[in-house]
Amino acid sequence: MTRMPERWYQHAVIYCIDVETFQDSNGDGVGDLRGLTSRLDYLYRLGISTIWLNPIHPTPNRDDGYDVSDYYGIDPRLGSLGDFVELIHQCDNRGIRVMIDLVVNHTSDQHPWFQSARQSEDSPYRDWYVWSPTEPPHADEGIVFPGYQRGTWSYDEVAELWYHHRFYKFQPDLNWNNPEVREEIGLVVAFWLQMGVSGFRMDGAPFVIEEVHPDTADRIMHYEWLNDLHDHMTWRRGDAVVLAEANVPKDQILEFFGPRADRLPMMFNFAENQQVFLALARETAVPVQTAIQASPEIPSGASWATFLRNHDEIDLSGLRDSERADVFAKFGPEKEMQLYDRGIRRRLATMLGGDQRRIRLAYVLQFSLPGTPVIRYGEEIGMGEDLSLPQRDSIRTPMQWADAPQGGFSTAAETVRPVIAKGEFGYPTVNAREQEQDPDSLLRWFYNVLPVLRQCPEFGSGTCSVLDTRDDRVLALRYDCPTGSVLAALNLSTEKATVNLAPQPGITDGFPIDVLSDQEYPPADDLTKVELDGSGYRWLRLTRTVGA
Ligand code: GLC
Repeated sequence: MTRMPERWYQHAVIYCIDVETFQDSNGDGVGDLRGLTSRLDYLYRLGISTIWLNPIHPTPNRDDGYDVSDYYGIDPRLGSLGDFVELIHQCDNRGIRVMIDLVVNHTSDQHPWFQSARQSEDSPYRDWYVWSPTEPPHADEGIVFPGYQRGTWSYDEVAELWYHHRFYKFQPDLNWNNPEVREEIGLVVAFWLQMGVSGFRMDGAPFVIEEVHPDTADRIMHYEWLNDLHDHMTWRRGDAVVLAEANVPKDQILEFFGPRADRLPMMFNFAENQQVFLALARETAVPVQTAIQASPEIPSGASWATFLRNHDEIDLSGLRDSERADVFAKFGPEKEMQLYDRGIRRRLATMLGGDQRRIRLAYVLQFSLPGTPVIRYGEEIGMGEDLSLPQRDSIRTPMQWADAPQGGFSTAAETVRPVIAKGEFGYPTVNAREQEQDPDSLLRWFYNVLPVLRQCPEFGSGTCSVLDTRDDRVLALRYDCPTGSVLAALNLSTEKATVNLAPQPGITDGFPIDVLSDQEYPPADDLTKVELDGSGYRWLRLTRTVGA
């Protein structure tokens, strides 16, 4: 029997939600779990299979929840544990899985563990953090937020010691070298699995496993801690998965996945993300071709997660200076659009000037790449950003549901962040309700495309080959897996192109057929002449072995 791909996450479409900006149910101006639950039918229609929630725990909220003060609770602004279980239940009813952020490299400095640790050397939590009696020599190295963070070690007046923090000063790093910390995080993970989550998006994974010493900038990497976490999780829930934020150099990728996908089975493909933006900026397929070809073969069961935009800036630090300059020039020319000297703090639709053909091409490109797509809320309707908000908040504005007060997000006069009300991307123009009625809208386009993607499991878990199109503008990828074979051809330029993709071995009777395209094309039976309009795309099925 031909088997379908076995791992659910290789065949998922993940949708990232910040609960506080998605839907407010009680009129206090802050989105909440009940509000999200009331919008599940929308997500079901959209065709996503899994939601990933940005942090939902109690927090002083100085880094949008990525500063946790209680791992076992729900931020009271968002609701209660009861509301969370209700959300899980309603997701179950619709076959939607839930993942949550696991932010365990650091806590908030307000976490009771840190508060206790700093008080006295006899505190049972003293050793849960990383201390130094004197200022470490490399205290100003390894900064993640240049311009907004002074160093990676800060002096604590109460403890009269220096403590380590990879991120902001108010996010002291946990000492993972202490087995008690690892045990506690095991409890945290077990708790949420028992609550019904299918897995976690792990924040800053490489930092979690580094052993830090004040006297040296060298770090010892403890991959075995990831094995232990994976073992523990999968004993508790066999199909649980970790999707990791691990922006690591090429030569470490396989270490992080683990030899049997038994460390971090899923990782965001940061390197490829930058090449995608370079390809879109330069209107050429070459950067993406090269990125796919340079990517190591990953173990069976492992999966990349692809994304265009997430809740952070686009990190372009992996590009050469001239490449980064081209992406900045095209997609973020103003200084205020850029962040941390490396990235762009805009959403996709605005970067692409609201050009529907380019936006759709960009998404088909994402869906054509090896791995599981992750989409950020609001991208499906083409929301924009508010550059008057600080740092990454520009792209964290409330969901625009309707042309109604506060975009239908809340009945409050003041909301957690202002709803974008004016201009080409304001809620009177860009909102879900109107796009649901409009067959030509971006939202309706997503409604059509996501089911097609899910009928093509080859994209998620097949073997990918980059085809030589003899035309730098056109990317062509072929995927083969036990369910069949598909071919994606995308014209990254804005001019028409015709490419020769013949011969393709293994085509069966009745194929190839177009399963998705930007417009009607002459039938694809002659693969020597595959036509593509400017920014055009086509997915061709070559064979189907299951459910033909
Ligand atoms: C990750 C998150 C980011 C956060 C940081 C610190 O990079 O994506 O939003 O600020 O971790 O937790």
